[in-house]
Amino acid sequence: MSEKHDVTGVPTTGHVWDDSLADFANQPPKWWMLGLAASAIWVVVYWLYYPSVPVPSSNTFFKGIGGWTAIKEMDADKSEVDAVRGKYEAKLKNMTPAAILADSELTEYVKRSGKVLFGDNCAPCHGTNGVGAKDKDGLVAPILNDDDWLYGGQIDNIHTTISGGRQAVMVAHKDSLSAQQIDDVANYVKAMSDEGKDKADTDSAVAAGKKVFMESDCTSCHGADAKGMQAMGSANLTDKIWRFDGSLEGIKRTITYGVNSGDPKARIAIMPNFKEAGKLSDSEIKKLAVYVYKFGGGQPDLPVAPVQATVAQPAASAVTATK
Ligand code: HEC
Ligand code: HEC
Repeated sequence: MSEKHDVTGVPTTGHVWDDSLADFANQPPKWWMLGLAASAIWVVVYWLYYPSVPVPSSNTFFKGIGGWTAIKEMDADKSEVDAVRGKYEAKLKNMTPAAILADSELTEYVKRSGKVLFGDNCAPCHGTNGVGAKDKDGLVAPILNDDDWLYGGQIDNIHTTISGGRQAVMVAHKDSLSAQQIDDVANYVKAMSDEGKDKADTDSAVAAGKKVFMESDCTSCHGADAKGMQAMGSANLTDKIWRFDGSLEGIKRTITYGVNSGDPKARIAIMPNFKEAGKLSDSEIKKLAVYVYKFGGGQPDLPVAPVQATVAQPAASAVTATK
């Protein structure tokens, strides 16, 4: 095999094409050979130090003389994270959600852990980031990133909703109203949303429906202005936001069978009680309240208008009466 190259005199592997092109049989450089030897030694050291080969006749692996495990590494990482989080967690434990909101550093922290909590517990019904999720009957649960609130968008309203859950009730009207009346009032409700309340009120085409609205029980829950009452989570019927199917047929169905009314065809709207179910701790509920508030629809605290309080009174008893 080993022949010498005609021109250079260097040994070749025997593959010589011409004077300038041949497979030389030179030794690799010394640094390269040293590197090879070092890595061979490194393999042995690594192999002994870390868990490597399965041990025959047992289902364990050779554990390595270094005692390294992935669990230990994770614990070390976790205690590092806990040390950082612990500082914030201890602080927010004794704070009200409003106080957390007022502290921008804490709010930033809470928003980050709130995202995970929301994804795990709330997104299936409210959609990622509260954008809403739909099924054939409309939204599964209210959109949380707008400024339309059934139960109020102030931080304490949101906190109360999450810790206590909510379950609005609208009675069924299939026995108290005729099919004609339901048709009329549904047209009026649709007109309030499509044209605005003022125009609907003077629109002769829906005058019969307006009469039903004012004279049956609608105003006791939705208010004479049809804007809904926070105390009972009744919807604002004058905006373009529909929780359930907002087509004429959809509206008729809501009026006919109600919401959580016990009727088999009723629409269902249940916001679970996360505190009672023990699913979330107090701190987690506070974090979620701040997180939801920060979707952008949260409303600053305003003094409660006395008018609202008196109007809410008969409404609240109407709910109990229908249960
Ligand atoms: C099983 C579905 C479901 C899950 C899970 C759920 N919700 Fe709800 N949520 C609802 C429904 C339905 C309503 C409306 C209740 C009603 O109409 O009375 C609601 C209402 C709300 C409201 C009040 C909205 C308003 O307009 O006033 C807030 C805030 C809220 N949910 C936050 C959350 C948070 C935070 C979580 C996670 C911890 C969560 N929800 C998990 C179904 C759900
Ligand atoms: C006992 C109280 C109560 C009475 C009476 C009542 N409602 Fe409601 N209504 C509610 C509540 C509460 C909701 C909101 C349910 C939810 O979103 O979870 C609602 C929702 C609705 C919706 C659906 C809104 C949407 O966004 O999809 C329509 C439409 C409606 N009501 C119309 C009427 C009409 C018309 C009448 C009178 C014939 C009436 N309601 C009587 C409590 C009531």
